[in-house]
Amino acid sequence: MMSFSKKVDRIEESQTIAITSLAKKLRSEGKNIISLSAGEPDFPTPENIKQAAIKAIENNFTKYTQNEGIPELREAVADKFRRENGLKVEASNILISSGGKHSIFNALQAICDPGDEVIIPAPYWVSFPEMVKLADGVPVILKTTEASGFTFDAQDVERLVTARTKAIIINTPSNPTGAVISEESLRGIAALARKRGFYIISDEIYEKIIYDGNKHFSVGSISEAGDHVITASGVSKAYSMTGWRIGFLAAGHEVISRAAKIQSQVTSNASSVSQAAALEALRGTQTEIEKMRVAFQNRRDILFARLSGIKGLTLSKPGGAFYFFPSIKGLVGKRHGGRILKNSADVAEFILAEAQVALVPGTAFGSEDHIRISYAYSEKELTEAATRIEESISRLK
Ligand SMILES: Cc1ncc(COP(=O)(O)O)c(C=O)c1O
Repeated sequence: MMSFSKKVDRIEESQTIAITSLAKKLRSEGKNIISLSAGEPDFPTPENIKQAAIKAIENNFTKYTQNEGIPELREAVADKFRRENGLKVEASNILISSGGKHSIFNALQAICDPGDEVIIPAPYWVSFPEMVKLADGVPVILKTTEASGFTFDAQDVERLVTARTKAIIINTPSNPTGAVISEESLRGIAALARKRGFYIISDEIYEKIIYDGNKHFSVGSISEAGDHVITASGVSKAYSMTGWRIGFLAAGHEVISRAAKIQSQVTSNASSVSQAAALEALRGTQTEIEKMRVAFQNRRDILFARLSGIKGLTLSKPGGAFYFFPSIKGLVGKRHGGRILKNSADVAEFILAEAQVALVPGTAFGSEDHIRISYAYSEKELTEAATRIEESISRLK
């Protein structure tokens, strides 16, 4: 009898990717599906970035590069982190990888020993607990609630800290809730990390998608936190470059050298052409980025007005990223046909079948009581989806 890795069998497949694939399949079968499931801007990658990639190909910039990333890009990322985020970093503190996901994976592999605990505030991005398990770590879930706007502070974290705590993963603005963690809370958590000796992995991939005049605050800018902070970001969301697969880590040399060693044995450098494109993204004009941010804010407002009128859904206005995370508690126990809706998976299935709108059940993010709705889609699709969701919910008994 053939056997397989027990570790891999304990890992869940990414449910967001699974639902997005199902929506694509149903569409290819002729169904008129609106998919609000993917965490992906619908805008094309800005023209100047595409041209930089074309030029790189024409100039035969198509070979292996330095494992850690090309020096110009590492410098551009360091420069960005210094200017925009207040981090005290040099190019040697930067590792370029194949997407933000890869950056976080490398960081966890670099710091975790078997049994090390990693605190993950819930609702969380689907991949955090699974990546911790792949690093032989133990995810320790910090539950947050709607009442606190899905935020948390140092006291909440301290209750879960043990001698085995190796890190906390903070994602602000958050996927799936859109919550933005305050500077005050981040300062408290940084002081705690220093006192109790654990890392903060700060996933800031949505740093540029923030609304209502608020400014992103990077925990890595707190000088007393020093090498306790590992900052992860990338070009996927801000520059609409999800398919190019470029992410970056900023950390102390001890972490960067270990993460780079792992990368050197697994993937080697990130794509040369994509690195040239990312360099243009960071160094070139930023006007498209602001246009996209403003478009996301408008879409948030349009969809918020529609969804808050639907009986059975309760939601708040997110401060960043491009997701709503409404509670579906008001729909639990309702019937359609012979079936009773029991949880978020039932609700997502019902909305897919009846409204032909694909959403992600909250279970994927550590909550039975919510669904995630991405608004990285056109106003037309969002308005049509809201109408369909409203109609289908009104038919529930
Ligand atoms: C919270 C969060 N972190 C990291 C990533 C990874 O981004 P990338 O596509 O660059 O791997 C995502 C993408 O969905 C995300 O939502």
